[in-house]
Amino acid sequence: MSLYQLILGNPFVYNHVRPFVVGGVDNSTAYRALDAGKDDVVLDVGCGTGDALNYLGDVARYEGFDTDPVAIDFATRAAKARGDHFHFQVGIVDEKAVETIAPTRVMLCGLLHHLSDDQALALLSSLARQKSVKRIATSDVVYLPGKHLSNAFAFFDRGKFVRRVDGYRRLVARAGLRVAEEKIVKSHPKNGRAEYLIFALEAGA
Ligand SMILES: C[S@@+](CC[C@H](N)C(=O)[O-])C[C@H]1O[C@@H](n2cnc3c(N)ncnc32)[C@H](O)[C@@H]1O
Repeated sequence: MSLYQLILGNPFVYNHVRPFVVGGVDNSTAYRALDAGKDDVVLDVGCGTGDALNYLGDVARYEGFDTDPVAIDFATRAAKARGDHFHFQVGIVDEKAVETIAPTRVMLCGLLHHLSDDQALALLSSLARQKSVKRIATSDVVYLPGKHLSNAFAFFDRGKFVRRVDGYRRLVARAGLRVAEEKIVKSHPKNGRAEYLIFALEAGA
């Protein structure tokens, strides 16, 4: 991992410096798209430092996965007060994990631009095949025509697979998912300088 990636992945930099640089981060729109309630089993892939804890009310079960052990350690400590049904673990989510967890709602907040087309397709297709999944929400850095400042933030993002809107649409369609809702939102409604693409996805393209 490069020094640049290491610095941006530091929990303090991620949670405090990055929001300051982009004018604030508010992921409420993505969590509204997820629409999780108390009976839902939520799978959060690329959960990072546990940002979901800031937005999710109580749910039946929450499973957060990330490949970064430092982020998972931070999230696990932050989740103590939420109870035993909030779990964080280091790992990659494959088809078997999806079947075992049997989620009803899946959050991919800031994940797809970290995954190659092949990696993203494998994950999205296994979610599309899993009958328990009612809704998948995604939020990603995106290249937008004429949005020079936001595009510059996208260029310097840790994720190496930032796409245009069409690129993300093609990916989810290839996985057999339908876009139920699509929005471009500022990273923060008031002063956000970066713009993100939000999808609410359901089975059946
Ligand atoms: C932009 S961060 C988003 C973190 C969190 N969801 C949030 O919104 O604050 C992307 C996260 O995805 C993780 N990640 C990248 N590739 C992954 C993979 N294949 N499986 C699980 N997590 C992954 C990174 O370690 C990083 O923590």
